[in-house]
Amino acid sequence: MAGQTTTATTLFLLMSMILMIILLLDFSYVCHADPDPVDDICIADLSTGQRFANGYPCKPASQVTADDLVSDVLAKEGNTSNVFGSFTTHGTVVKFPGLNTMGMSMNRVDFAPGGINAPHTHPRASELVIVVRGTLFIGIITADNKYFSKVVKKGEMFIVPRGLMHFQCNIGKGKAQTYAAFNSQLPGGISVPKSLFRSTPSIPDGLLSKVFQLDEATVRASKAKLVNI
Ligand code: GLV
Ligand code: MN
Repeated sequence: MAGQTTTATTLFLLMSMILMIILLLDFSYVCHADPDPVDDICIADLSTGQRFANGYPCKPASQVTADDLVSDVLAKEGNTSNVFGSFTTHGTVVKFPGLNTMGMSMNRVDFAPGGINAPHTHPRASELVIVVRGTLFIGIITADNKYFSKVVKKGEMFIVPRGLMHFQCNIGKGKAQTYAAFNSQLPGGISVPKSLFRSTPSIPDGLLSKVFQLDEATVRASKAKLVNI
């Protein structure tokens, strides 16, 4: 009997320790953005179609050249002729394979006068933005619905904590431009209008009508106008 109790207690202690280790590992995982690299250089080989938890498979080290460490993907101004008057050029691992396992990436956003980078979130990264041209009105909404807004001028930076909703609007007379750095090679971008009004397949009009308290004809008109976003 005493032997059985000792075995049960040992088992209980063992299970508790295993549970604690799992929780600790899980906690340390969610506290970071991308996992740490295990090699100096791991240029993504996008051609394999394979993907690992830490990114893409590496191109053979013998084939790596200086060109793999450089990219001009953000060099050109984006075409802002669209309903929002802004264009985001993504400098993520998908466009710049040298970023593989580096835990960082960068976007460029161009704004026409009055252009808006519509409300969106990045599920896998925090963001640090610098305004390199013009003046923006920026907004960030926290998880408990607190809205922060500010006018940010050329040369100034602002932060967007991971996963929070945010937007920018060009309030200057001319064009505006930003560069945004992320602590993920593939931060993801969930745009509110795109997700809700241009998903594939489409979210039912009746549902959006109820959620936004709009009649269904307005929802349909909005979906039609957002066709090319
Ligand atoms: C700006 O918010 C960006 O995601 O580039
Ligand atoms: Mn953003």
